[in-house]
Amino acid sequence: MASEKNHSSYISGRESRRITRFNRRVTRKLEKERDDANKDVSKYTTTMKDPKNVVEFDNVCTYFFTDVGVVKAVDGVSYDVPVGKTVGVVGESGCGKSVTSLSLMQLLQRPSGQTVGEEIRFNLGDGTAYNIVNTPNSIMEKIRGNRISMIFQEPMTALNPVFRIGQQVDEVTQLHHPEMSKEDVKARTLEMLELVGIANKEGVYDMYPHELSGGMRQRICIAIALACSPSLIIADEPTTALDVTIQAQILDLLQNLKDKLNSSIMLITHDLGVVAGMADYVVVMYAGRVVEKGTTEDIFHHPAHPYTIGLMKSKPVVGKKVEELYNIPGNVPNPVEMPNYCYFRDRCEMQCERCRGDYPPEIRISDTHIVTCYRYMDQGEIVGYPKSVDVEAL
Ligand SMILES: Nc1ncnc2c1ncn2[C@@H]1O[C@H](COP(=O)(O)OP(=O)(O)O)[C@@H](O)[C@H]1O
Ligand SMILES: [Mg+2]
Repeated sequence: MASEKNHSSYISGRESRRITRFNRRVTRKLEKERDDANKDVSKYTTTMKDPKNVVEFDNVCTYFFTDVGVVKAVDGVSYDVPVGKTVGVVGESGCGKSVTSLSLMQLLQRPSGQTVGEEIRFNLGDGTAYNIVNTPNSIMEKIRGNRISMIFQEPMTALNPVFRIGQQVDEVTQLHHPEMSKEDVKARTLEMLELVGIANKEGVYDMYPHELSGGMRQRICIAIALACSPSLIIADEPTTALDVTIQAQILDLLQNLKDKLNSSIMLITHDLGVVAGMADYVVVMYAGRVVEKGTTEDIFHHPAHPYTIGLMKSKPVVGKKVEELYNIPGNVPNPVEMPNYCYFRDRCEMQCERCRGDYPPEIRISDTHIVTCYRYMDQGEIVGYPKSVDVEAL
């Protein structure tokens, strides 16, 4: 989909019409396929590769068919979220962290946003799994908020300003457990409010969101997310809008509740401090791909990918005076025309001869540690290649 003038963002009227026609054809076809798939259970049931995982992202590709071309926001992303563990997903703004989690919830802006491949497996706990990519909406409605729930960055916008707190927490329980009586639902809500550390729970039940502080609002959002004891909690920048002292409290609370409910957490953040304190595993993303993944120990003590090494260097350390903070030179490539080689190459201080070739494979450098970089080609075992989808063939 290269425009005629390659190095500018100029698109001629003709090219623009071609893109519009192409997008319409492809998105229509994808939506139709989805509707057809919905009728056949075998199209969206599968089995986990490892039953100890709650979610397995397997070469996930989520593309946006926009007026300027196809944005490959997430392109061949693979990682697992083990049961009962916290996985931190880090990377700079725009690298595809949120789009990965929205793909799992099927909350993408459609029809322009489409997950075109390959599998997102969600463990149902009975030996089977759903492939979320093809799961029909009627089933997703039973999963969202019930088995997978989400905590967002801005607690004020996540809560509805015109309803009382109690009603908003009640609603989730009522929706997923229509058999429960009104009294039982309210009792459950009060229990949740107590669990998230709200002292005056009866009072708060009748309050409106604007009467609460930011930290309390985020506690309410956590109560809503946990009301149905989900097996996975997605926390997308949960503390970015809160001040530092409250951040620590909210993270502690999340961690404690996770253990109580035996849930897993996908913790999405650009803040390495948050990840270090809470995650068991870390996934580092860059420009829509995973560049490195491993245990928190692997990533923080033995960062292997030049991008991760740069991230670690640019983190200020308490008690250490620095003249100037390190910054990674250069910019993220244009998402519409992603090159076929390592996206980080042109910013990399350690690039080698091999980087001139195609995108590097995923290389296992220890039991838990996988990195996508040619520097490790001779030291580890190749475990896979991130797979892109050819949009022209759709
Ligand atoms: N609705 C959309 N339409 C087009 N592009 C989008 C849309 N939503 C996200 N993107 C693109 O997807 C990429 C990843 O975004 P996102 O996952 O939100 O980043 P982050 O890692 O900061 O959460 C960005 O380049 C963004 O421009
Ligand atoms: Mg985001």
